[in-house]
Amino acid sequence: MNTLEVAVIGAGYVGLSTAAALAACGHRVWVVERDPVRLEMLRSGRVPIQEPHLKAALFAPSSTVCFTADLRIAVCVSSIVVIAVGTPPTPSHGANLSQLYAVLEGIAPLLDEQPRVVVVKSTVPVGTHAQASQELRRLAPIASFALVSNPEFLRQGRAVRDAVFPDRIVVGATQPWAFQAMKTLYGALLEGQISLTEALELERPVSLPAWLEVSPRSAELAKYAANAFLAMKISFVNEIANVCEETGADIDEVISVLGSDARIGADFLRAGLGYGGSCFPKDTRALSQIAAKSGYDFQLLRAVIEVNAAQRYRALDTLERRLNGVRGKTVTVLGLTFKPDTDDLRESLGIDLALELAARGAFVRTHDPVAAQAARELLPAGIAVSGNLEAMLTDADACVLVTEWREYLTADWARLGARMRHALVLDGRNALEPTVMFAAGFTYLGIGRADTRLTRQPQD
Ligand code: UGA
Repeated sequence: MNTLEVAVIGAGYVGLSTAAALAACGHRVWVVERDPVRLEMLRSGRVPIQEPHLKAALFAPSSTVCFTADLRIAVCVSSIVVIAVGTPPTPSHGANLSQLYAVLEGIAPLLDEQPRVVVVKSTVPVGTHAQASQELRRLAPIASFALVSNPEFLRQGRAVRDAVFPDRIVVGATQPWAFQAMKTLYGALLEGQISLTEALELERPVSLPAWLEVSPRSAELAKYAANAFLAMKISFVNEIANVCEETGADIDEVISVLGSDARIGADFLRAGLGYGGSCFPKDTRALSQIAAKSGYDFQLLRAVIEVNAAQRYRALDTLERRLNGVRGKTVTVLGLTFKPDTDDLRESLGIDLALELAARGAFVRTHDPVAAQAARELLPAGIAVSGNLEAMLTDADACVLVTEWREYLTADWARLGARMRHALVLDGRNALEPTVMFAAGFTYLGIGRADTRLTRQPQD
């Protein structure tokens, strides 16, 4: 096995999960982080984000990951430099590339005649590779480097598993030697030779990752296209759920039929309140803008975004009808992170719904098992925030499950329901078992579930 020295710039969930996977491939990895608090945590063996397996993977006895603020140390010894900084949305829904360009400026003086591959892992608009290559060449006119686009497909909450067992590795480059270097970098993943997986008890997939050599523009677009397609599946299934509510069909049954068609696939067909998080909302809007700028009106994607924006309020309207208005009622929002097993509150549906319920006159309480403290900063003082489920449900008129945390799925609902003024739950993720909730004395409302229909009865 070829052991490389690799620099990974940015210690977010992408950078850290990638670093863990590359170390598990046998490489020596230098993670560069400029935030002193984050760096100090990592140096003392703590992980600054909630991500299953990440701590164990980064600090395994065999781990070769070190942490530094010094770009010079990391880049000078490395033959591959992976950039994993954020590309947050601009106010006009584009991608803010200032962190990426700042890194290019930082590494340019460190590049020399030793050939290096500079890998852009961050999600960037189509054409960024071309512009960034030009810029790096301007800043480092005689250095030997190849810029490569290598998008990630990691899911928060599963990022370590996705990093060591990717479905595919996409490399967008223009020089053959760069493709070759990237193949060496990912050699162990391509052959499924990752020892760490036994230690972490990660379930192995049936097949090895696909290796895809494409143009940089295709790699850049493919990343957005993948997220947009998954978002489309979610908006599609949510609209089918809405039609179920209007027609008396049952979304679980319809999904079982759809998902068993291999051409459609069962993944990403969970109906609910819609998608949130740091990726889908940002990337769908960015792709819509990329298309518009190129002169193309991506109608389908616009609809995906609109459906997602409306879905959460449709459910709230139903709750309003059930409660004869939410004004003056106490409603508890369950789950603030955008999905379970992460502490990420970006584009949080829970926060959004709490604010909307308050705007409609409800007394709002919120609960989250990991992010209550961080959420306090994002919510006005009038909205209660706590990590204590029972306290937040006591005397409530209704609760809305927004994030399917395990704590909710395994809760003693009969006990909790007895503490509520009205045992009414709107299950915004179809994550609870209706029969269990009925047995616990609840009025249960799902999304598109037939026997819990939220809207009018069909005219038979
Ligand atoms: C997403 C993609 O799944 C990753 O492949 C991609 O690498 C990542 O974005 C990224 O671009 O960095 P992530 O945002 O971590 O990953 O989370 P997902 O598991 O995709 O969930 C996103 C949202 O969709 C969540 O709010 C989730 O509740 C919702 N969702 C997901 C549904 O409503 N229904 C589903 O069937 C699946």
